[in-house]
Formats: sequence, structure tokens, C-alpha cells
Amino acid sequence: MKSTILKLILSVFIAFNFSCDSNHSDKEVFIDDLLSKMTLDEKIGQMNQYNGFWDATGPLPNAGYEKNRYDDLRNGMVGSMLNVIGVENVYALQKIAVEETRLGIPLIFGFDVIHGYKTISPIPLGESASWDIKAIEKSARVAAEEAAAAGLNWTFAPMVDIYRDARWGRVMEGAGEDTYLGSVIAAARVKGFQGSDLSDFSTIAACAKHFAAYGFPEAGRDYNTADINKYTLYNNVFPPFKAALDAGVKTFMNSFNTLNEIPATGSKFLQREILKGKWGFDGFVVSDWGSIGEMIPHGYAEDGNHAAELAINAGSDMDMESSLYVTELQSLVKEGKVEEILIDDAARRILGVKYDLGLFENPFKYCDKEREKNVIGSKENQLAALDMAKKSIVLLKNNNQLLPLKKKGQKITLIGHLANDNNSPLGNWRGAADSNTAVTVLEGLEAYGENSITYSKGVDLYYGETNFHSRVNLNHTDKTGFKEAKIAAKFADVVVMVLGEEGFQSGEGRSRTELGLPGLQQELLEEIYKVNKNIVLVLMNGRPLNLTWADKNIPTILETWHLGSQSGNAIAEVIYGNYNPSGKLTMSFPRNVGQSPIYYNYKKTGRPGASSAEVTTSTYADVENSPLYPFGYGLSYTNFDYSELKLSGDKMNRKNMISASINITNSGDFKGKEVVQMYIRDHSGSLARPVKELKGFELIELNPGETKEVVFQIDNSSLTYFTVNDKWESEIGKFSVYIGSNSDVQKNKSFNLTN
Ligand code: BGC
Repeated sequence: MKSTILKLILSVFIAFNFSCDSNHSDKEVFIDDLLSKMTLDEKIGQMNQYNGFWDATGPLPNAGYEKNRYDDLRNGMVGSMLNVIGVENVYALQKIAVEETRLGIPLIFGFDVIHGYKTISPIPLGESASWDIKAIEKSARVAAEEAAAAGLNWTFAPMVDIYRDARWGRVMEGAGEDTYLGSVIAAARVKGFQGSDLSDFSTIAACAKHFAAYGFPEAGRDYNTADINKYTLYNNVFPPFKAALDAGVKTFMNSFNTLNEIPATGSKFLQREILKGKWGFDGFVVSDWGSIGEMIPHGYAEDGNHAAELAINAGSDMDMESSLYVTELQSLVKEGKVEEILIDDAARRILGVKYDLGLFENPFKYCDKEREKNVIGSKENQLAALDMAKKSIVLLKNNNQLLPLKKKGQKITLIGHLANDNNSPLGNWRGAADSNTAVTVLEGLEAYGENSITYSKGVDLYYGETNFHSRVNLNHTDKTGFKEAKIAAKFADVVVMVLGEEGFQSGEGRSRTELGLPGLQQELLEEIYKVNKNIVLVLMNGRPLNLTWADKNIPTILETWHLGSQSGNAIAEVIYGNYNPSGKLTMSFPRNVGQSPIYYNYKKTGRPGASSAEVTTSTYADVENSPLYPFGYGLSYTNFDYSELKLSGDKMNRKNMISASINITNSGDFKGKEVVQMYIRDHSGSLARPVKELKGFELIELNPGETKEVVFQIDNSSLTYFTVNDKWESEIGKFSVYIGSNSDVQKNKSFNLTN
């Protein structure tokens, strides 16, 4: 301990001298001065990011690479490291950078703090279902505080990709299919991570990723080609990135995919023209893991040298794990294939973020062992995770008000591998969480009620340990547990079945071609249904699933995602009615996988068709066009009645506005929250227009019998889109306004936008 304190004093002294050497009062002057002292190699070094020596989130070079990396660190050839966590580890590497390199420039340490560092909150798709923007911001704040206490100063989050295909495993990591909601949430998460003062020791730099169109992989297969038109890019993909930027995000990550034939990592259009040009972004762009080198298999770069040239010229400032900038940039500059001014610009951007974080003043500011001990996993943080988890749950069906259950006097049979699984609820991006630390549903039900609970697994969903690096070993054959579960279910008052995906079945590299309940779970559900129909189906999953059979047969269905550390407690609070569920889906749930991609703001064809029986219409012969559960959908234990919608006028121009109002009454017996959603349809435009688009929402809480008026102001910004003129503008004509409890709302009122 004593020696740690001594080291700390020494390093603060070094850092202090460093900052006094340079005129520290002005960022530009400081960075100019520093850059003027740097060799070309040292500047290139700032642009190099290595994985740490403990765990990896992508493919690493062959064994034995560590020694070279330590050499590179000492030679100032590393600007950042990822996957180095914990004060001790961060401190040790930062010390090399600060004390052993020629200029002592501190490293920036990045990690995927996606939904929590050690205290895990719900997967981001789950959090988005809360539509509670303050809670989402708070969740990012807690994550940042824990990460910063562990020595980190940069998270690779939020993922702000918009997506529409549940086959893609990474749908768990974003805010769903809608651009408007996605933009609001992107800004909230950035504010949560970065706080109001980035130089504070409890805030960390955020990273908007993956720029761009990573959420549109063909057939939902991860990393696959994205082929989307310019207008989808501008109207659907770009806005959440822009919102993150407007909220002050310090870094961007580019993406693995090609976008309209060009790898995003090598795209000048995305990085130079849009991001750094039109949008004026002055932070830095990090490549995705190895994505510079991956331009070779893409068939875009001939070799590593060519890949580095393409990437830097396109505007990728930092190379995550391709190791191509350190090996190639020096010669590329010498040969005149890369202008040195681009290296200066990239290094300046990276140094600028380090400056904003306050790392030059104190490179060890995130390395406080006491803080690490007190902040990480604190009771307060666990309570915040519990609050977020409750808010993320969506009630999909509740026939005969089977839920909430009585807390006493009930015989409950609890079935399902996931009901007693303390690992899966942590989800795929579980930061530094210890394995097997989530509260199970079994534990939650026991803690919050006094019922007699019989647990029977029913079937193994998977075997063995699961982890980030391998596929989940699913059980497809062994049904020996069915018998015991059926006996246990037969005489129960109610059967609670917890089914879904193991925590590592969704996430990066976890694409699926089927969306049913994995393994033997569907069969188990149908078998149990034969002996007891009073079933509460609790789903744990990272993506929309095909629930068509369950929806037809099972009376009550609760969508709980992967809810994080407090999962079982949150689920029990909802099951027993301590918390009235208020979540609403942010992704449409298809009726079967063949409907994917499916989303609410689609465009009608010229032959829309009303039913599957009509042949020459745009309908399927075997299933309806509509989703099973639409975007924005979710029930409550109470009922909300919507009055007729009123518009303040039937005309507006671009300078004034119209208000749309509606009364909502809680006509049930429970206090509850409702997400009131406002959609607008533009009837015709210079481009074909979507059937409707979310343009506002409000989360309200009502006591039984209470009525509230909700008013939305509609101004020109609600009617604007990226038109055929390549401009953000509105177009005169007819618009309709819809206000309701989900995107399927039909009642509407119209107005005209005039000149
Ligand atoms: C992912 C990124 C992540 C990075 C570092 C990549 O494989 O696509 O989202 O931040 O790894 O872990």
C-alpha cells in the first residue's frame, strides 16, 4: 500500500511537471506544443490501440505477441488499450506510458461498458422498452461511475444502430427499430456516460457506434453486407448518430460491414464527408476490432499496406487491433501515399479527447483503489439496476388477469432451466460482471412472496459453461425431465414457466435463422399446457422471438429480456404486483421468421392488400402481414382509455404549429404508467412516405379513475425529412396524426401543411 501511495505521488509529480512544461490553460496551445515535439512515429503510436493481456473481444494474433506489445508501449507506439480492467492493471500500463516513453503521453483505456460494468442492468433493447429516458440516462451514469472507478475512461457505447431484423444477434445492444426513439435514447446514454464534465473522475468518454448501417446486414447475418439506399441512410440510420454528436459524444466507431459496396472503415463519404465534414465532429474515430485489416477479405484492399492507406485516407483515426497503422503508416507517408497532415489531424483528435478527460493533468485520476472498492457493486447501484429492470419488463398478454399473483396461499410450480439460472440474465455484453451473480426467478419469487413453490427444471436448455467465445451447447435430445415437470405442474394453482435464450445466444456473432424457443423448450411448453393451462410464461431473451403458438394458447406472457444482476427480484416484483408493468416493445415481434425484417414504419406497396386470400396483392399466402406484437405495444395491470384526439386546427405553415391533444383515463384498479405515443403520416412526398412515424411520446402515471390530458406540439421539425432534393425539409400537403398506446393505432385526425 505504502509503495502504491509513493508511486502515486511520484506520478502525480511527473504529470504536474508535464502540464506545467506546456501552457496548459488552452487546449489548442497545449496540443500544438505537444505535437511539435512528437516524431512521426510517436504520432502514429497515438493512433494504435492494442488489446490488453487478459481477455479479448475479437481475434488476436498468434501466441507470443505480448512481448512486442510491451516493447511498443515503451517506445510510445501505443495510444490506447482496450479490455484492460481494474485499477491495478490500468495503473501498471499507464505507468509505462507515463514514465517510460519519451514524452510520457498517457493512454486512454476503452472497454465495452454496454449495460453496466460489474452491476449489470438490462440489455439495452430491454432498457429501451422502458421509454423512460431519465432512467436510461441514470443507468448509463451508474455504469460510467463503476467503469471509471475501475480505471477506465472510455466506453464503446452506446450502440445507436437502427435495425429491423430479429435474426441479427446484436439487436439486444441497441434501442430498437425506430429512429426517433433511438435518437432520444442515444443522446440520453451519451449524457449518462459523459456527465456534464468529462474531466470529472466519475465520467468517461462515450462512443457512438457502428458508423454506419451495421444494423442492416443482409439476412440478419452479423458483419454481412449492407445494401441500403441513400434515403434510408439519411432518414433512418444517421439521425441517432447525429443526436449522439449533438449530445457531445467524444468518439465514433466505424463498422465491419460494407455499405453500398464500400467497407465503412474505408468510407471517405461516411467519415470525412459526413461526420467530420458536414457534421463538424472534432473527436476521433476508432476502427472496429480489426476492421482495417478486414478490408482485405472484403475484396477492397490488396494487402495490409493498402488497407492502412485506405483507412487513414478515409478518416479512421485509431486502429483497433489490426496493428496496421504501426507497421504501415510510416512508409506510406514517406512514399507520399498518405499526407502527414492526416496523421497530425488524427493524433490531434486523439490527444484532444485525452485532454478533455483530464489525463494530462493526472494520468492516474481513474486509479484509486479505495474508490474502486466502494463504488463498484454498491448497494445503491444494485438498487438502480433493480429500478431499471422493473421498468424494462413488457406484459404481452394477461388473459383473465392471471397476473398479478397473490403473495400467499398459492401453489406455484416453477419450470424452466432459465428459472434457476443465475448467469443468463447477465446477457452477452456483461462487462466485468462475475459469472453466476444474477438473482434468479426462483430466488426472487421466494424473497417477495410466501407461496409454496415447487421448482422443476423440465429440460436442460444447454449444457456446461457458456462464454463470449463459443457457441452455446444446446440440448436437442434429452427430455427426461419432462415427466417430473408435468407431475409438478398438474396440481399447481399456477405454473410459471421461464423460457427463452441463454445469455450468450444473442449478441455479437449470434445470428439465428429460426426465432422459436431454442432447444426443447417449445415442446416442454406444449406438454405442460396439456396438464395445466394456467401458465404464466416468463420470457428471457435478447431479441424478438416467434411466439405465435404461445400467444394463441398461453394466458399470460411477460417479456423480461436479459434483465441483469437484479433480474429475479424485478420479475418477482412484477409477478406479485409490487410493480405494475409499463414497458412497451421497441421492436416488432414477427409471427414467424419469414416475415423478417418487419417494422412498423414501412412503406405501402401499390397493392397493399387486406388479407392473405387476395392473390395479386402484397400479402403472404400463409400468414398475415402484420406483426404478432407491434412496435410500441405493451399492457398494464390496469386499463387506459383514450378519448377522441383533438387538433388545434386543420392547417399550419412552416412557421407556426398545431397541437394535438388527447385525454387518457385509468379505468382499471391499479395505479399505472402509460407511454402515450404520437405518430404522423405524410400522405405524399417527393419520395414514397412511410405509413406512419413516431414523432413524440410521453410517459405518464395515473391513479385508478384519474384522467390526464397529453398535448403534443407539432411544428415544422416534426414534418421534415431528407427529401429527393437531398435536403432536410418538409413538403406541403396532407398529414395525419395518430395518438395511441402502440404503433397499430388507427384513429387519426388530419391537417394540411401550407406555404
Ligand atoms: C464490436 C464492437 C466492440 C469491439 C471491442 C467488436 O467486435 O463490434 O462493438 O466495441 O469489438 O470489443
